[in-house]
Amino acid sequence: MTSSAPVESAIAKRREIVNDAIDEQLPIKKPERLYAASRYLLDAGGKRLRPTILLLAAESISTVEPLSADYRTFPSLNGDKIDILSAAVSIEVIQSFTLIHDDIMDDDDLRRGVPSVHREYDLETAILAGDTLYSKAFEYMLDTGAPADRSVEALDELATTCTEICEGQALDVEFEARSDVTTDEYLEMVEFKTAVLYAAAASIPAILLGCDEETVESLHGYGLDIGCAFQIQDDLLDLTTPSDELGKQRGSDLVEGKRTIITLHAKNHGVDIETLVPEDPTEAEIEAAVDRLREAGSIDFAREMAYDLVENGKERLEVLPAGEPRALLTEIADFLVERTY
Ligand code: IPE
Ligand code: IPE
Ligand code: MG
Ligand code: MG
Ligand code: MG
Repeated sequence: MTSSAPVESAIAKRREIVNDAIDEQLPIKKPERLYAASRYLLDAGGKRLRPTILLLAAESISTVEPLSADYRTFPSLNGDKIDILSAAVSIEVIQSFTLIHDDIMDDDDLRRGVPSVHREYDLETAILAGDTLYSKAFEYMLDTGAPADRSVEALDELATTCTEICEGQALDVEFEARSDVTTDEYLEMVEFKTAVLYAAAASIPAILLGCDEETVESLHGYGLDIGCAFQIQDDLLDLTTPSDELGKQRGSDLVEGKRTIITLHAKNHGVDIETLVPEDPTEAEIEAAVDRLREAGSIDFAREMAYDLVENGKERLEVLPAGEPRALLTEIADFLVERTY
């Protein structure tokens, strides 16, 4: 993974901090197989975009120099010390839980460059590892040391987020059997399955650090917009990026019959999306399908939609004080749709 651009270096630095914190907070204990399976994807890699956004949002609210603070004793607006890193770990642990269960649902064998948890272990262990991470995330969110009212609000946000992720994932699966999914339905599905976790990552630090409602809401809106854009880019990368670069199976969405903004647009422009690829497509067959989608203008259409969402999201940051963390939140929004991995 390169880290040449300032935003990539900012992500890399925070990724290290989050990785050390995961090591500290999620040790492998008995039953060992369960905890090893729970740690397995976390140790395999991952961009750590959501916890990075959480830390940057905290930094943008505070007057502390970026990266100079101890994130375990991060000063809130009224001076009490908050373990903001535990909130960051909580969000990444939720991300890992959703990936484990998502790979079961999507029948995917490869994740973060390694076999998915249900392939490396077994289905029972993968379900339990996901469940363990899901509940651990609430423990970590409870461990921030924030005053009770703010803790409850953060936990409420986390719980609502998880419910919505399940609703979004249910729609994603339901849509596979439907050929009349609309753009609005797609966007609602994506907002729930993916964007709400970005919204939680961006707004929970504002809740924990005691910001006013306008700031919490603006950061939440920022997360929703850039999260939808992120998923559109994920849908594009599924089509265009080789598996070894992406760390997951290229073309998986086409094989599974997923409804994405790209295939919805293509269908509305006369492409028979049900026969785009055979059951077990070769790279050449995926290339041919992507060519047809490109010719229909569907790739460009999706890209433009993602860029528009990112612009909307960035505008919401105006509520924050200007400075390096806010600039990095702007750049990370661009990165979400420019990334190639
Ligand atoms: C993948 O998220 C899951 C989606 C919501 C599309 P990421 O692309 O952020 O995956 P990691 O965490 O970096 O592996
Ligand atoms: C995943 O969407 C959304 C989650 C809640 C994990 P995808 O199914 O497109 O994610 P990938 O492509 O497998 O990472
Ligand atoms: Mg998937
Ligand atoms: Mg999925
Ligand atoms: Mg995907």
